Amino acid sequence: MEKVKLKIKRFDGKQEKIDEFEIEYNERTTVIEALIHIQSEIDPTLSFRVQCRAAICGTCGMVINGEYKLGCRTKIKDVAQNGEIMLEPMKNMKVIKDLVVDHFEFLNKLKNVKAWFVPKEPFEKVYPEDLKKFEKETDCILCGLCYGVCPAFEADKLFGGPINYVKTYRFWKDKNDALGDERIVLAKEDHITSCVHCKSCSIVCPKEIPVEQDITQIEFYGKQKGIIKQDTSQFGFGFGFNDFGNF
Ligand code: SF4
Ligand code: SF4
Ligand code: FES
Repeated sequence: MEKVKLKIKRFDGKQEKIDEFEIEYNERTTVIEALIHIQSEIDPTLSFRVQCRAAICGTCGMVINGEYKLGCRTKIKDVAQNGEIMLEPMKNMKVIKDLVVDHFEFLNKLKNVKAWFVPKEPFEKVYPEDLKKFEKETDCILCGLCYGVCPAFEADKLFGGPINYVKTYRFWKDKNDALGDERIVLAKEDHITSCVHCKSCSIVCPKEIPVEQDITQIEFYGKQKGIIKQDTSQFGFGFGFNDFGNF
């Protein structure tokens, strides 16, 4: 068994501090297991979120050595640097206590883009190739990692955030969704064009959803259709309409 020092950014509602805990770990120990050990054996006041421990529920997002990750999917052996790991709460959300942040902000914003299926009449038969168009986006577990890492909020507080546009994409690509291009209008009103295309959302997504690519596709289509105002300064990528396949 090796030892690691976990440095954890704490917040009790009034003050911030860094606490350090030294624990033993093995090949399989995850960050969440280390936190559970600290909470049950060393400091019962330590707060963090955990449910499934299998990268399904999306509740254990945090910043691990500066990177946005799920604690339950991150092994200590893979992230320890010089025998230490720094754990911090995600940004762009209010910290409730220690590593627990308030998910309400991004969950409530989902209403802005009507992030739910609106059935079309008559319903068309669905084939496997139809589902493939939004297969990755369906996997979103609402973990908030992309929302926390996103720099666009610094310049635009009204920016809806990457999760909203993943949902836009998922339903926009569904031939049985009744909203169609109204979804692009909603995304525009939700400030999708404030995305700076840094790709951080795609990099951190534990489900490998191509978030930034989806945003680019929505924006490009919106501009082609005249829904979103053309702004040549924002798009210098040199791609063509057909690069995105069939809309
Ligand atoms: S690509 Fe856009 S949405 Fe994604 S993190 Fe960067 S600014 Fe935010
Ligand atoms: S898009 Fe990825 S990173 Fe963002 S909330 Fe969904 S699963 Fe998490
Ligand atoms: S505990 Fe459910 S995703 Fe980590």
